[in-house]
Amino acid sequence: MNIVMLGRPGSGKGTQATRLMERLGVPQLSTGDMLRKAAADKTPLGLAAKKLMDQGQLVPDEMVIGIVDDAFRTPETAKGFILDGFPRTLKQAEALDAILAAKKRALDKVLFLDVPAELIVERLSGRRSCPKDGSVYHLVNAPPKRDTLCDKCGTPLVQRDDDKPERITARLDAYDRDTAPLRPYYEKRGVLAVVHGVGPADGIFAELLLRLGIKD
Ligand code: AP5
Repeated sequence: MNIVMLGRPGSGKGTQATRLMERLGVPQLSTGDMLRKAAADKTPLGLAAKKLMDQGQLVPDEMVIGIVDDAFRTPETAKGFILDGFPRTLKQAEALDAILAAKKRALDKVLFLDVPAELIVERLSGRRSCPKDGSVYHLVNAPPKRDTLCDKCGTPLVQRDDDKPERITARLDAYDRDTAPLRPYYEKRGVLAVVHGVGPADGIFAELLLRLGIKD
Protein backbone atom coordinates (compact mmCIF):
# COMPACT_ATOMS: atom_id res chain seq x y z
CA MET A 1 0.00 0.00 0.00
CA ASN A 2 1.40 3.38 -1.07
CA ILE A 3 -0.61 5.98 0.83
CA VAL A 4 -0.57 9.76 1.33
CA MET A 5 -2.41 11.38 4.26
CA LEU A 6 -3.69 14.86 3.47
CA GLY A 7 -5.55 17.42 5.59
CA ARG A 8 -5.26 20.61 7.61
CA PRO A 9 -2.74 20.86 10.46
CA GLY A 10 -4.27 18.98 13.39
CA SER A 11 -6.79 17.08 11.27
CA GLY A 12 -5.53 13.77 12.74
CA LYS A 13 -3.08 12.70 10.02
CA GLY A 14 -0.43 11.57 12.51
CA THR A 15 -2.95 9.83 14.80
CA GLN A 16 -4.45 7.83 11.92
CA ALA A 17 -1.12 7.23 10.11
CA THR A 18 0.25 5.56 13.27
CA ARG A 19 -2.77 3.26 13.42
CA LEU A 20 -2.48 2.44 9.71
CA MET A 21 1.24 1.72 10.11
CA GLU A 22 0.50 -0.78 12.88
CA ARG A 23 -2.33 -2.36 10.89
CA LEU A 24 -0.60 -2.53 7.49
CA GLY A 25 2.99 -3.12 8.64
CA VAL A 26 4.41 -0.39 6.41
CA PRO A 27 6.40 2.65 7.66
CA GLN A 28 4.90 6.04 8.48
CA LEU A 29 7.02 8.74 6.86
CA SER A 30 6.26 11.98 8.71
CA THR A 31 8.21 14.96 7.37
CA GLY A 32 7.27 16.96 10.50
CA ASP A 33 8.83 14.25 12.72
CA MET A 34 11.91 14.04 10.47
CA LEU A 35 12.40 17.82 10.62
CA ARG A 36 11.86 17.92 14.41
CA LYS A 37 14.45 15.14 14.82
CA ALA A 38 16.92 17.05 12.63
CA ALA A 39 16.29 20.17 14.76
CA ALA A 40 16.81 18.21 18.01
CA ASP A 41 20.06 16.78 16.56
CA LYS A 42 21.05 20.37 15.67
CA THR A 43 21.99 19.52 12.08
CA PRO A 44 22.33 22.56 9.75
CA LEU A 45 19.12 21.53 7.95
CA GLY A 46 17.32 21.00 11.27
CA LEU A 47 18.32 24.39 12.67
CA ALA A 48 17.28 26.19 9.47
CA ALA A 49 13.97 24.30 9.41
CA LYS A 50 13.22 24.98 13.09
CA LYS A 51 13.20 28.76 12.58
CA LEU A 52 10.51 28.42 9.91
CA MET A 53 8.52 25.72 11.73
CA ASP A 54 8.37 27.82 14.91
CA GLN A 55 6.79 30.62 12.85
CA GLY A 56 4.25 28.25 11.31
CA GLN A 57 5.80 28.58 7.86
CA LEU A 58 6.62 25.81 5.42
CA VAL A 59 10.21 24.65 5.00
CA PRO A 60 11.55 25.18 1.42
CA ASP A 61 10.56 22.46 -1.05
CA GLU A 62 14.17 21.48 -1.89
CA MET A 63 14.94 20.66 1.77
CA VAL A 64 11.88 18.49 2.30
CA ILE A 65 12.09 16.76 -1.07
CA GLY A 66 15.69 15.85 -0.22
CA ILE A 67 14.79 14.15 3.06
CA VAL A 68 11.86 12.29 1.49
CA ASP A 69 14.07 11.13 -1.38
CA ASP A 70 16.56 9.80 1.21
CA ALA A 71 13.76 8.00 3.08
CA PHE A 72 12.72 6.24 -0.14
CA ARG A 73 16.24 4.84 -0.50
CA THR A 74 15.77 2.73 2.65
CA PRO A 75 14.63 -0.91 2.20
CA GLU A 76 11.72 -0.44 4.68
CA THR A 77 9.72 1.51 2.09
CA ALA A 78 9.89 -1.30 -0.49
CA LYS A 79 6.66 -2.92 0.82
CA GLY A 80 4.76 0.36 0.98
CA PHE A 81 4.51 3.59 2.99
CA ILE A 82 2.20 6.06 4.64
CA LEU A 83 3.32 9.61 3.90
CA ASP A 84 2.18 12.01 6.64
CA GLY A 85 2.75 15.72 5.98
CA PHE A 86 4.18 15.30 2.48
CA PRO A 87 3.48 16.46 -0.16
CA ARG A 88 2.40 19.92 0.95
CA THR A 89 2.89 21.92 -2.26
CA LEU A 90 2.31 21.17 -5.95
CA LYS A 91 6.08 21.13 -6.45
CA GLN A 92 6.42 18.45 -3.76
CA ALA A 93 3.58 16.44 -5.34
CA GLU A 94 5.38 16.50 -8.68
CA ALA A 95 8.64 15.49 -7.00
CA LEU A 96 6.85 12.56 -5.35
CA ASP A 97 5.47 11.50 -8.74
CA ALA A 98 9.02 11.50 -10.12
CA ILE A 99 10.46 9.54 -7.16
CA LEU A 100 7.75 6.88 -7.48
CA ALA A 101 7.91 6.73 -11.30
CA ALA A 102 11.66 6.06 -11.10
CA LYS A 103 10.82 3.04 -8.94
CA LYS A 104 7.93 1.99 -11.22
CA ARG A 105 5.49 2.56 -8.37
CA ALA A 106 2.36 4.67 -7.98
CA LEU A 107 0.10 5.97 -5.23
CA ASP A 108 -2.76 3.65 -4.27
CA LYS A 109 -4.74 6.18 -2.26
CA VAL A 110 -4.62 9.74 -0.99
CA LEU A 111 -6.67 9.88 2.22
CA PHE A 112 -7.99 13.38 2.91
CA LEU A 113 -9.14 13.98 6.49
CA ASP A 114 -11.81 16.65 6.28
CA VAL A 115 -11.90 18.74 9.48
CA PRO A 116 -13.26 22.30 9.50
CA ALA A 117 -10.78 25.09 10.35
CA GLU A 118 -12.93 26.10 13.39
CA LEU A 119 -12.04 22.83 15.17
CA ILE A 120 -8.32 23.04 14.53
CA VAL A 121 -7.34 25.55 17.25
CA GLU A 122 -9.01 23.39 19.93
CA ARG A 123 -7.30 20.26 18.60
CA LEU A 124 -3.82 21.77 18.38
CA SER A 125 -3.83 23.86 21.56
CA GLY A 126 -4.81 20.74 23.56
CA ARG A 127 -2.19 18.49 21.95
CA ARG A 128 0.68 17.22 24.07
CA SER A 129 3.44 14.92 22.77
CA CYS A 130 6.05 12.69 24.31
CA PRO A 131 9.52 14.06 23.44
CA LYS A 132 10.98 10.55 23.91
CA ASP A 133 8.79 8.21 21.86
CA GLY A 134 6.62 10.68 19.88
CA SER A 135 3.27 9.46 21.29
CA VAL A 136 0.52 12.04 20.79
CA TYR A 137 -2.22 12.92 23.33
CA HIS A 138 -4.91 15.54 23.73
CA LEU A 139 -5.68 17.02 27.14
CA VAL A 140 -9.43 16.50 26.63
CA ASN A 141 -9.96 14.13 23.68
CA ALA A 142 -7.17 11.60 24.33
CA PRO A 143 -5.72 12.39 27.77
CA PRO A 144 -2.79 10.47 29.28
CA LYS A 145 -3.69 8.16 32.19
CA ARG A 146 -1.40 9.92 34.71
CA ASP A 147 -1.23 13.74 34.88
CA THR A 148 0.77 14.89 31.87
CA LEU A 149 3.07 11.87 31.63
CA CYS A 150 3.43 9.56 28.63
CA ASP A 151 1.45 6.32 29.17
CA LYS A 152 4.18 4.24 27.53
CA CYS A 153 7.41 5.61 29.06
CA GLY A 154 6.42 8.04 31.85
CA THR A 155 8.24 11.00 30.24
CA PRO A 156 6.66 14.44 30.92
CA LEU A 157 4.64 15.51 27.88
CA VAL A 158 5.42 18.76 26.08
CA GLN A 159 3.54 21.23 23.89
CA ARG A 160 4.99 21.81 20.42
CA ASP A 161 6.23 25.39 19.89
CA ASP A 162 4.11 25.67 16.74
CA ASP A 163 0.94 24.68 18.64
CA LYS A 164 0.73 28.09 20.35
CA PRO A 165 -2.43 29.94 19.11
CA GLU A 166 -0.57 32.67 17.15
CA ARG A 167 1.42 30.01 15.22
CA ILE A 168 -1.68 27.95 14.46
CA THR A 169 -3.17 30.83 12.43
CA ALA A 170 0.03 31.05 10.34
CA ARG A 171 -0.05 27.27 9.73
CA LEU A 172 -3.68 27.37 8.63
CA ASP A 173 -2.85 30.24 6.23
CA ALA A 174 0.06 28.21 4.79
CA TYR A 175 -2.30 25.26 4.34
CA ASP A 176 -4.90 27.36 2.48
CA ARG A 177 -2.27 28.95 0.25
CA ASP A 178 0.05 26.03 -0.56
CA THR A 179 -1.53 22.70 0.36
CA ALA A 180 -5.25 23.08 -0.43
CA PRO A 181 -4.57 22.86 -4.23
CA LEU A 182 -3.43 19.23 -3.72
CA ARG A 183 -7.00 18.10 -3.12
CA PRO A 184 -8.14 18.80 -6.73
CA TYR A 185 -4.71 17.62 -7.99
CA TYR A 186 -5.33 14.10 -6.61
CA GLU A 187 -9.08 14.17 -7.22
CA LYS A 188 -8.45 14.54 -10.96
CA ARG A 189 -6.31 11.41 -10.86
CA GLY A 190 -9.04 9.37 -9.18
CA VAL A 191 -6.94 8.41 -6.12
CA LEU A 192 -8.51 10.79 -3.58
CA ALA A 193 -10.74 9.51 -0.77
CA VAL A 194 -12.31 12.21 1.41
CA VAL A 195 -13.12 11.03 4.94
CA HIS A 196 -15.01 13.09 7.53
CA GLY A 197 -12.38 13.65 10.24
CA VAL A 198 -14.68 14.70 13.09
CA GLY A 199 -15.82 12.24 15.78
CA PRO A 200 -14.13 9.39 17.64
CA ALA A 201 -10.73 8.35 16.22
CA ASP A 202 -11.85 4.67 16.15
CA GLY A 203 -14.75 5.44 13.81
CA ILE A 204 -12.52 7.51 11.51
CA PHE A 205 -9.99 4.66 11.40
CA ALA A 206 -12.73 2.19 10.45
CA GLU A 207 -13.82 4.50 7.62
CA LEU A 208 -10.21 4.82 6.38
CA LEU A 209 -9.85 1.01 6.27
CA LEU A 210 -13.11 0.81 4.33
CA ARG A 211 -11.84 3.35 1.79
CA LEU A 212 -8.65 1.29 1.43
CA GLY A 213 -10.73 -1.83 0.79
CA ILE A 214 -9.53 -3.49 4.01
CA LYS A 215 -11.88 -5.40 6.33
CA ASP A 216 -11.95 -3.99 9.91
P1 AP5 B 1 3.68 18.51 10.82
O1 AP5 B 1 4.28 17.92 12.02
O2 AP5 B 1 3.45 17.68 9.61
O3 AP5 B 1 2.37 19.27 11.26
P2 AP5 B 1 0.92 19.38 10.60
O4 AP5 B 1 0.70 18.95 9.22
O5 AP5 B 1 0.62 20.80 10.87
O6 AP5 B 1 0.13 18.35 11.28
P3 AP5 B 1 0.07 18.09 12.78
O7 AP5 B 1 1.16 17.17 13.20
O8 AP5 B 1 0.00 19.41 13.52
O9 AP5 B 1 -1.37 17.46 12.93
P4 AP5 B 1 -1.97 16.05 12.51
O10 AP5 B 1 -2.86 16.22 11.34
O11 AP5 B 1 -0.89 15.01 12.41
O12 AP5 B 1 -2.89 15.80 13.76
P5 AP5 B 1 -2.67 14.85 15.05
O13 AP5 B 1 -2.94 13.45 14.69
O14 AP5 B 1 -1.39 15.16 15.76
O15 AP5 B 1 4.56 19.75 10.31
C1 AP5 B 1 5.04 20.72 11.23
C2 AP5 B 1 5.83 21.77 10.46
O16 AP5 B 1 6.95 21.16 9.79
C3 AP5 B 1 5.06 22.49 9.35
O17 AP5 B 1 4.31 23.58 9.84
C4 AP5 B 1 6.22 22.94 8.44
O18 AP5 B 1 6.89 24.04 8.96
C5 AP5 B 1 7.16 21.73 8.51
N1 AP5 B 1 6.89 20.73 7.46
C6 AP5 B 1 6.51 19.43 7.65
N2 AP5 B 1 6.34 18.81 6.47
C7 AP5 B 1 6.61 19.74 5.52
C8 AP5 B 1 6.58 19.71 4.10
N3 AP5 B 1 6.22 18.60 3.44
N4 AP5 B 1 6.89 20.85 3.43
C9 AP5 B 1 7.27 21.97 4.08
N5 AP5 B 1 7.29 22.08 5.43
C10 AP5 B 1 6.96 20.96 6.14
O19 AP5 B 1 -3.90 15.37 15.95
C11 AP5 B 1 -3.92 16.67 16.50
C12 AP5 B 1 -4.54 16.63 17.91
O20 AP5 B 1 -5.90 16.24 17.78
C13 AP5 B 1 -3.89 15.59 18.85
O21 AP5 B 1 -3.85 16.11 20.15
C14 AP5 B 1 -4.82 14.37 18.77
O22 AP5 B 1 -4.79 13.60 19.97
C15 AP5 B 1 -6.17 15.03 18.52
N6 AP5 B 1 -7.05 14.20 17.70
C16 AP5 B 1 -6.71 13.37 16.66
N7 AP5 B 1 -7.81 12.79 16.14
C17 AP5 B 1 -8.87 13.28 16.84
C18 AP5 B 1 -10.28 13.05 16.77
N8 AP5 B 1 -10.82 12.23 15.87
N9 AP5 B 1 -11.08 13.72 17.63
C19 AP5 B 1 -10.55 14.57 18.57
N10 AP5 B 1 -9.22 14.82 18.69
C20 AP5 B 1 -8.39 14.17 17.83
